[in-house]
Amino acid sequence: MTRKIAILPGDGIGPEVVTEAVKVLKVLQERYGLDVELEYGLIGGAAYDVHGYPLPDTSLDLAKVADAVLLGAVGGPKWEQLDRVLRPEKALLGLRSELKLFANLRPAILYPDLADASTLRADVVSELDIMIVRELTGDLYFGEPRGIRQNSAGEREAYNTMIYSESEIERIARVAFETARKRKQRLCSVDKANVLEVSQLWREVVTRVGNEYPDVALTHMYVDNAAMQLVRAPTQFDVIVTGNLFGDILSDQASMLTGSIGMLPSASLDEDRKGLYEPIHGSAPDIAGQGIANPLATILSVAMLLRYTFGALELASRLEGAVATVLGSGLRTLDLHPAPGRHVGTADMGNAVVAAL
Ligand code: IPM
Ligand code: MG
Repeated sequence: MTRKIAILPGDGIGPEVVTEAVKVLKVLQERYGLDVELEYGLIGGAAYDVHGYPLPDTSLDLAKVADAVLLGAVGGPKWEQLDRVLRPEKALLGLRSELKLFANLRPAILYPDLADASTLRADVVSELDIMIVRELTGDLYFGEPRGIRQNSAGEREAYNTMIYSESEIERIARVAFETARKRKQRLCSVDKANVLEVSQLWREVVTRVGNEYPDVALTHMYVDNAAMQLVRAPTQFDVIVTGNLFGDILSDQASMLTGSIGMLPSASLDEDRKGLYEPIHGSAPDIAGQGIANPLATILSVAMLLRYTFGALELASRLEGAVATVLGSGLRTLDLHPAPGRHVGTADMGNAVVAAL
């Protein structure tokens, strides 16, 4: 059965890193019998420029019929002045909610060869292997009411709603417990239960779901403490589960432990494991078009796609092994090795992974 992957390169470095990931997919197709069909669509600023809208119906329909979506990145200064509903980021949020991709998996793994690229001491990050499970379709990101209004004093005020229902908390908790079960059986739930009612309910529901997973050791941590612990002693964590906003922040922080945000892939899954796969780094407009972006996060996103949506575990490990081989051979993009003259470009890195495959 041929499966379809929707390819949405997007903006900034998105198209550059996706090009390398597609090279990898082609090799898997030609040499390893991966039966897939790739279909391209526009998203973000690139779609706005053509259609006047960042998530055109053609792209949304394509994402809906596809078995999986591979996305580059969206956004850039060119579109920053647009109305909120027309901004590139809106397309990504729209895809997440339209496709009901509530479970966002963001692994932060330190490749041994990159210990020196981390801004933390090598002994602090050694053997780091964290999985952040971020809720992706609720919280302040989607809560209503929201807006900017005039208050009674004639001053503008802005408001958003932090809101989670029990069922939303329960389903993300289940994903996290199942994930922990397959790893080191440790789950840390991150909230702000000392201040927020939303977090109070979050903690209550996660604890209740935990009763069904006696084999998983559940702990709770306030988000401010979690941010501190992530840089103090990050290897204490196995799986972290948290809401949309806290997860957004903590996953960027965790990414730097691994040496570069250019290394981190992600999977956003629905109830049936259909998924959208993307690097977590964003469009990086400052380096777009220069051919220096690190394509490894996108290539590793392909590995996650193989594992989670296609269940092709062996191919996924093979691809991750190829990335490890390339890093072991000393190849570094600029983000991993800022010393002048000692780095390779985006295409060279992609070609090296292809060769290692
Ligand atoms: C991410 C990004 C997005 C988010 C933006 C681009 C809307 O930061 O995927 O982490 O906030 O979720
Ligand atoms: Mg983010």
